[in-house]
Amino acid sequence: MQRTLILLKPDAVQRRLVGPIVERFERKGLKVIGMRLMKISDQLAATHYEAHQGKPFYDGLVQFMTSGPVVALALEGNKAISVCRKLMGATFGCDADAGTIRGDFGISNGFNLVHGSDSTEAAQRELELFFDPEDLHSYELIDDSWNAAE
Ligand code: RTP
Ligand code: MG
Repeated sequence: MQRTLILLKPDAVQRRLVGPIVERFERKGLKVIGMRLMKISDQLAATHYEAHQGKPFYDGLVQFMTSGPVVALALEGNKAISVCRKLMGATFGCDADAGTIRGDFGISNGFNLVHGSDSTEAAQRELELFFDPEDLHSYELIDDSWNAAE
C-alpha cells in the first residue's frame, strides 16, 4: 500500500474544479487520508520544487503555486503513486491524453491543475512538507481487502 501527495493547484481552485478532480481519484479507488485547503508560502514552494531550481520555468512556477489557495490531498492505495500519475496525464495539458485530468480539463503547459509525487522518496518527503502526522488518518473502507496488493 502506498501513500502519495496530490496538490490541486491554484488554477483548479479558481476554476471550481476541486470536486470533479477529487472525484477522479476517489472513483478509481484511492482513499483520502488527508485534505487541506491552504496558501503555499514562497519558502514551501521553493522547498517543494527544489529539484527545478535554476530551470527557466522555475520563477513562474513558484509565482503560480503561491498565487492563491491550493488543496493538498494525501491519498492511499495500491500503487497509489503511479496510479495517480496515470490519472493526471502528461505534464502539459495540450499533450495529455483524453480521459486524464490534465487531458480533460486544460490545454495550458504550466497551468496544469494538479501535482502528484513521482516516487516513494518524493511522496514521503512531500507528505511531510504538507501534513502533520496527526492530520493523516488511517481508517477502514469496505473494499480495502478487494484493492490490496497480492
Ligand atoms: P508536477 O511536479 O507539478 O506534478 O508535474 P510533473 O511532474 O508532471 O512535471 P515537472 O517536470 O515536475 O514540472 C513541474 C511543474 O512545472 C511546470 N512546468 N512548466 N513551461 C514549462 O516548460 C514547464 N515545465 C514544467 C508545470 O506546472 C509542471 O507541473
Ligand atoms: Mg514533478
